[in-house]
Amino acid sequence: MEYSRLTPCEGDWKDLAEEYVSLQALHKDYTESLDLVEKTRSKFEKALTHQKYRLRCLKSSLKKIDLSGDEDKVRKVDFEKDISRRDAQLQAMEGFLPKKNGFYLSIILGSVNVSILNENGRFKYKEEYEKFKLSVTLIVLCMAVLNLVIQNTVFDLLFMFLLVWYYCTLTIRESILRVNGSRIKGWWRLHHFIATVMSGVLLVWTSSPSYLKFRSQFVYFNIYIGVVQYVQFHYQKGCLYRLKALGDRYSMDITIEGFHSWMWKGLSFLFPLLYLGYFFQLYNAYVLYEMSKEPEAPWPISILSGLFFVVFLGNMFTTSTVIREKMWQMFKKELKKRMANIDKVSWNHRKSKANTPEKSPEADSTGDAKAGGDSGKKTE
Ligand code: COA
Repeated sequence: MEYSRLTPCEGDWKDLAEEYVSLQALHKDYTESLDLVEKTRSKFEKALTHQKYRLRCLKSSLKKIDLSGDEDKVRKVDFEKDISRRDAQLQAMEGFLPKKNGFYLSIILGSVNVSILNENGRFKYKEEYEKFKLSVTLIVLCMAVLNLVIQNTVFDLLFMFLLVWYYCTLTIRESILRVNGSRIKGWWRLHHFIATVMSGVLLVWTSSPSYLKFRSQFVYFNIYIGVVQYVQFHYQKGCLYRLKALGDRYSMDITIEGFHSWMWKGLSFLFPLLYLGYFFQLYNAYVLYEMSKEPEAPWPISILSGLFFVVFLGNMFTTSTVIREKMWQMFKKELKKRMANIDKVSWNHRKSKANTPEKSPEADSTGDAKAGGDSGKKTE
């Protein structure tokens, strides 16, 4: 708002002065809350360390205790179960304390702490990471398609430079995700470190005439990887939102079974595309290896051939391990569910027997059938 005379300006200044008083009060509240958070955090950290120490002592005493009879053995097993449950609870609590940066982050960021202490903040950071990957993937895809039409060294150099920057940024973001509890496998992070090196080597090689022999194959490879990464983004985004819904008690609109069937549908579409991409990487390694045998082949060729081969091996191994792990987890869950159902049926059976002490054999069998039928419904 602009005034042409002094009096209304002075009136506004008075209003502003009143607002400033409440702003000061709010600022005081804010800084006091920050102090309180800091104090509570350090108190909580001490209490947690103390609990962990006493739990460790209990565990080591339990190992040394001589057990006399069967009853003691059962008590010990129950005790151990309680302790491991408490261990898991303490670990979950520890997730809300800031963690130290790893070696890589310490080199890049120094002592700045990157821990995000609330679930919502962590979710938002992961969501942003996925969106970042999608945006750059789309730019890379467009540039790769343009590379088919435009054959220009400066454009090629720009493309390689984009790849170096992208993979380098991914390694930093993924290290931050790791500090904040992401279960991302070590290989995917290492893969992005290797991809940074490969893009750097390609950047050096691009201006050499021998690059032209490999250029079109590399352009098609990038287009293919761009498409795969686009599909992968939709799968990861789906996982992220569905897992968030599962973790949120108040908006639980999907079931674990629902999530698993969705996940397998997504994976069965994605896996063939991924494996085809891995064989493309193997083919790149082979073509580069053949080129490296030529006289006066520049050094980037053999380095790139070796790195493509390493990436092929690592990707094949890790993705196959992920499939095996997921199938094993699903099998274990199914087994647990069935065991729980059998338990329920036998418990119902025992209960109905205990409640009807004197029954004719006919009546007994009807009762059994009913108990079994009820639990069968639950199983469904
Ligand atoms: N890059 C970054 N993060 C990844 C990842 C990858 N390639 N693969 C998995 N993650 C993350 C997940 O988002 C999840 O994170 P969270 O703990 O923060 O929720 C964590 O790692 C655990 O994921 P996991 O359950 O092991 O796997 P998934 O079901 O999320 O994904 C695959 C499984 C196989 C689909 C996925 O690993 C993948 O797409 N791999 C192929 C990557 C590749 O080969 N790229 C080159 C293209 S040819």
